[in-house]
Amino acid sequence: EPSLRELAAPTGLRIGFASANDFWTLPDAATYQRLAAREFDILTPENQMKWDSLRPAPDRFDFEAAERHVAFAAAHGMQVHGHTLVWHNQLPAWLTTTRWTPDALEGVLEEHIRRVVGHFRGRVAVWDVVNEALDEDGRLRESFWYVNLGPSYIEKAFTWAREADPDAILIYNDYNIEVVNAKSDALYEMMVDFKRRGVPVDGIGFQMHVTHRGLDYGSLRRNLERFADLGLSLYITEMDVRIPGEPDMERLLQQAEVYRRVLQIALPQPRVAAVQFWGFTDRYSWVPQSFPGQGAALVFDRAYRAKPAYYALKEVL
Ligand code: XIL
Repeated sequence: EPSLRELAAPTGLRIGFASANDFWTLPDAATYQRLAAREFDILTPENQMKWDSLRPAPDRFDFEAAERHVAFAAAHGMQVHGHTLVWHNQLPAWLTTTRWTPDALEGVLEEHIRRVVGHFRGRVAVWDVVNEALDEDGRLRESFWYVNLGPSYIEKAFTWAREADPDAILIYNDYNIEVVNAKSDALYEMMVDFKRRGVPVDGIGFQMHVTHRGLDYGSLRRNLERFADLGLSLYITEMDVRIPGEPDMERLLQQAEVYRRVLQIALPQPRVAAVQFWGFTDRYSWVPQSFPGQGAALVFDRAYRAKPAYYALKEVL
């Protein structure tokens, strides 16, 4: 029976997953890798390209773990989706506990982007250059970067990334921007402005961390359309569909329906380049940690058995 990636390949859509930390050392590493290699053709390291992983000290870069993810992807004909160059979370303490002048901090960020993107040049196809820079009301988040550098850090990050790898696809990634709302409106305006001024942004990542109750699908379609009309590439970057409590069959079928509807909208939108899940087995998922009482958000269960969501995706493909 053909896999997700095999079914999607003729349509030009890539199907992806976030790869777990040190997945090659998991007790079930063989099963994990066999399934990942079979089902997916784009890989995002879930954590090991973040600052706290790549940048143990101001003057030291550690690419070892990240390289394992890249090697696995290369061995199995997958693209790598790098995550992430500028974010307010998972920053090393040496960075956040220092009092920086704006110039000094801007220098650190520029060096980071140039070094990391340059290191993976030609091997990381897509970069989440800026992650989660917006608040729910559409204002810029008062993050570590914003507070210290002001709003210009966003466009500068894209410019440095483009210089370091002119062929990489550079995207802005965020959550709660899937439908038309204050946050996606603000992002839309930012993209109009960036396009007009020639800021090198190529695409948008819609994280798609949602619940079994789904979302407004008409609004999702219209929202993708307006970003597509700006000439941007679109990625569903981190999809999972969490369920409260112990999942029963009714909830699993509701969850399958959410996966189905999202793919039904993404697939015919020619600008959507990939649909990527934030993991693939419920055994390794960020959801229970981050949303206590919720879980079972992915398309394979804890024992690597395909769930209704997996078959729903296949029906659409
Ligand atoms: C999460 C990882 O899944 C966890 O393992 C980690 O502890 C925290 O970060 N949006 C993002 C991702 O852009 O980087 C986050 O990943 C999930 C939300």
